[in-house]
Amino acid sequence: MKTVVSGIRPTGNLHLGNYFGAVKNFLQMQEEYNCYFFIADIHSLTTHPTPADLHQSVKTVLAEYLAMGLDPEKCALFIQSDVPEISELYTYMNMNAYLGELERSASFKEKVQTQRNNVNAGLLTYPVLMAVDILIHKADLVPVGKDQEQHLEMTRTFGNRFNHMYNTNFFPEPQAFSFTGDLVKVPGLTGSGKMSKSGGANDAIFFSDDDKVTHKKIMRAKTDEGPKAMNQEMSTEINNLFDLMHLVSEQDVIETFRKQYADCTIRYGDLKKQLAEDTLKFIAPVRERIKEVEADTEYLSRAAKTGMEKARESAIKTIEEVRQIIGFRKFY
Ligand code: ADP
Ligand code: TRP
Repeated sequence: MKTVVSGIRPTGNLHLGNYFGAVKNFLQMQEEYNCYFFIADIHSLTTHPTPADLHQSVKTVLAEYLAMGLDPEKCALFIQSDVPEISELYTYMNMNAYLGELERSASFKEKVQTQRNNVNAGLLTYPVLMAVDILIHKADLVPVGKDQEQHLEMTRTFGNRFNHMYNTNFFPEPQAFSFTGDLVKVPGLTGSGKMSKSGGANDAIFFSDDDKVTHKKIMRAKTDEGPKAMNQEMSTEINNLFDLMHLVSEQDVIETFRKQYADCTIRYGDLKKQLAEDTLKFIAPVRERIKEVEADTEYLSRAAKTGMEKARESAIKTIEEVRQIIGFRKFY
């Protein structure tokens, strides 16, 4: 059976991009594969959260995963820092990751631009830790959004380099995966980029937002002056709104608005109102379930413990073999 690994950093609440880019695939994959889904709390240390914030964010994401339907019986749902073997393998893999290739990673270059005063070594070696998350379970498939493609490429490079160095075929080559075929990119509300936690307060639609906030964010989304000619090409802003609609609205509703766009009768206010309504229909029940799960500390604790046990069993097996391969052999 194929093995699957994926994780999300607990740096805020989950948004529609996280759901459609990652978690929706997790839900389907847990039914048919050997899955490891985790909360990447070590990764989130690059942004220096306070201990209280870190703990709260991990708790929230755990509750969100569970409320969205991840089942601790069907998959290994765990917290990254509960598996010390990950940190151990990270130490080893760092020895074969080169400064030049790490500096060339798009995510590192972006951080150097956006957070000049916090360019720490953890950011530089982020792709090594991410590779380790995947390699420690010898994963074949990694469900992620389009923005993670380069990290997956680096994971394959690091795994292959290890194999080559020690003349083994120990690590398989993991591939990015999405049930839709193409990796998903959910647009944000404020511009042409992807929906993201770091895109400002009005960019992302969070599952934790209440109805009013979500409605307001969508009604404020950027539009243009409207189509001036039949079948005019869409601007990025309008295309984004239709992309979002494809995630939450019925096909016939989308068709109606597409026709109105084509014949220039569309009113963007109506389009956004419909999008807001359909988004809320999708989000509200999940949000209520998140609240219930987050209050159930017993369930959270049982889930995290079960996940930790499953993840460690797999990680310990890998790390013991890695130690042998590297040459750390016991004298006692
Ligand atoms: P953010 O960009 O908000 O910080 P993360 O980087 O924590 O989100 O992403 C966690 C997972 O969700 C990754 O698999 C990522 O590819 C996916 N993801 C995040 N934003 C989007 C998006 N807008 N479209 C598709 N997938 C996304
Ligand atoms: N880098 C991913 C992100 O920023 C999160 C992540 C960490 C991840 N480790 C992973 C995703 C391993 C998939 C597999 O979204």
